[in-house]
Amino acid sequence: MQDILNKIEEIRTRALAELAAVNTAQELETWRIKFLGTKGEIKNLKEFIAQAQGPDKKVVGQRVNPVNKEVEAAFAEKQTAIKASDVSANKDYIDVTEPGQRPQIGRTHVITHVTNELTDLFAKMGFTVAAGPEVEDEYHNFVALNIPQSHPARDPNDNFYLEGSGLTVQGLADTKTGTDTVSASKTSKTGTTSKTGTDTVSGSAVSPSNLNPEPRTLNPFSALNTQHSALLLRTQTSTVQIRVMETQKPPIRVVIPGKVYRPDTMDATHLPMFHQLEALVVDKNVTMVDLKSTILQFVHAYFGADTQVRFRPSFFPFTEPSAEVDVWFPDKNRWIELGGCGMVHPNVLKVLEKHGLNSEEYSGWAFGFGIDRIAMRKYAIPDIRMLIENDLRFLRQF
Ligand code: DAH
Repeated sequence: MQDILNKIEEIRTRALAELAAVNTAQELETWRIKFLGTKGEIKNLKEFIAQAQGPDKKVVGQRVNPVNKEVEAAFAEKQTAIKASDVSANKDYIDVTEPGQRPQIGRTHVITHVTNELTDLFAKMGFTVAAGPEVEDEYHNFVALNIPQSHPARDPNDNFYLEGSGLTVQGLADTKTGTDTVSASKTSKTGTTSKTGTDTVSGSAVSPSNLNPEPRTLNPFSALNTQHSALLLRTQTSTVQIRVMETQKPPIRVVIPGKVYRPDTMDATHLPMFHQLEALVVDKNVTMVDLKSTILQFVHAYFGADTQVRFRPSFFPFTEPSAEVDVWFPDKNRWIELGGCGMVHPNVLKVLEKHGLNSEEYSGWAFGFGIDRIAMRKYAIPDIRMLIENDLRFLRQF
């Protein structure tokens, strides 16, 4: 009798131990046949009841039935657990209640966004978009813009000149055309990258002491004058006015968005690299009325029809007369300067003679506005450094 009870306990212990070691549905089925199948060891326990005699029958029965129930319950539990783990391993299974994985969708930087808004707006007013190189020669950055050697803007401390002074930089001399002009809507999608020559430059900004101090003769109509001119990162997009007039005859009506570089100390309103939107209109009989009305239309369209605009007399070597444009922002309770403008100086228009035209028959107007400043006002960005910090929490807002 005790032997039988011991045997029952031995089978029970072994059945539970082997069940605990089961990990897969297949192993579970093997276990089931071995212990719970029609000839399984647990099912067979009933035979111990049959074999027992007299009152022993009851004692054995009282032991066999709970063991049977216990092992069956353990089996059911294991079956559920294995089903659950199998489901998650099944690749075809989609749990529609699971939170999804959001795809990371990129977006344009706020400066690109504003640049596109601006070029789209000017496209509606009949402007095309032009681009020029960010690495420039002194001819396009200064000379052709009527900025004489003596002008303080040419101070080496106010410019990023390239190492080698333009004499050793390869590739730029091959540049065929100075400008790419395409329709506004097309370019506004691809951003403001200049397409001419800049990729091939390997140079870094250097201190003025490295510069070749010798006077240089310039070929005014070459693309980038690597033989005779120092190269620098352009300080203004006005350079592209020249490149446009070199490659296009009037009537000209272009806007030029792009990066410009100045060795300014970084603070809440200054970066050593920032963006400008340049405009150039050249034709016969262009007057200051065209200049003022276009700027007024632009400001009213972009900042709102009630926005006040002010033109302040100013000086730029490449315009005569010149003015600065301020916009009144009631929330700031002050005028904020957008940039400079003016009637293109006759000396600048002389570049049209390349086409055999008499430049005196033409007149034009131009402006150069700060895109970063426009973006900061439009979207209430308090610090210009936020534009280059690459904080996604900031960038995702636009
Ligand atoms: N190039 C000037 C600057 O960077 C801005 C400017 C002023 C551009 C007057 C113009 C202009 O086209 O007509 O400060």
